[in-house]
Amino acid sequence: MDTTPFTSPHYVHGYSADEARRLGDQADTLAALLHAGTAYPAGGRVLEAGCGVGAQTVHLLDSGPGVHLVSIDVSGDSLAQARARVNAQRPDARVEWHRADLFALPFEDASFDHVFVCFVLEHLKDPEGALAGLRRVLRPGGTITVIEGDHGSAFFHPESPHAHAAIGCQVRLQAAAGGDALVGRRLHPLLAAAGYDDIVVRPRTVYADRTRPALVEGFTRNTFIAMIESVREDALAAGLLTRAEWDRGIADLRRTATPEGTFHYTFFKALAVAPR
Ligand SMILES: C[S@@+](CC[C@H](N)C(=O)[O-])C[C@H]1O[C@@H](n2cnc3c(N)ncnc32)[C@H](O)[C@@H]1O
Repeated sequence: MDTTPFTSPHYVHGYSADEARRLGDQADTLAALLHAGTAYPAGGRVLEAGCGVGAQTVHLLDSGPGVHLVSIDVSGDSLAQARARVNAQRPDARVEWHRADLFALPFEDASFDHVFVCFVLEHLKDPEGALAGLRRVLRPGGTITVIEGDHGSAFFHPESPHAHAAIGCQVRLQAAAGGDALVGRRLHPLLAAAGYDDIVVRPRTVYADRTRPALVEGFTRNTFIAMIESVREDALAAGLLTRAEWDRGIADLRRTATPEGTFHYTFFKALAVAPR
């Protein structure tokens, strides 16, 4: 029995083996797109907040060999998987693992040079409060990098209102759990409200068609459609769609990953500075 004082949040994607695989596919497929421009200098203290199963951790270590990485997550199971993944894939890396809530960070003020947060704010009731807490542990002039998606940016061919309705289920379930699947567009105002300076947000777009089979497989099918499919039971239980409507929506989404289909999605990547 787990007797630690933490509980994993009920978050919309869950903590299953399928979800761990999906996070790995997502991170590996999108590594070049999402991590380009993020390379921390050797010796720098970097906090990865909400590391999950370590899918981004290995890429952070690749682009910043020699960093002193501290990775935290509120889920003990995810943290154990992250540790195992990094030990297996990057055995020489120096990573400190902490089970911790990012609303109660167990670190001194100004104790990090950089903070990295990826696909976490979308699940939080108070993303501004989380960003303010992360600012506390950044040294003056230290940077925060935040990466989030925005499901409103999903458009595709063949167009289908049924597919959009299935995606809408995920958006509504995430909102009901206190999160925001459309948070990407809010990064600038959130970082500004949390007291950061020099905020720069840029879109990072994924576009997949049959000329990019690795993206069709790794992103359209194994990341995006898999994520929508994973909320099936919750969506049906909540009565958001009938079984037939759901099946039609998923079938139409899958057509976007056939040779005749195309798929577009935009992530947002922010860089901001803690006040000097
Ligand atoms: C979608 S996963 C993303 C994991 C990883 N950053 C990635 O990109 O693969 C979100 C993670 O945030 C963690 N999380 C949610 N709320 C948290 C909190 N209050 N404190 C720390 N971690 C949290 C969850 O446990 C989960 O592992």
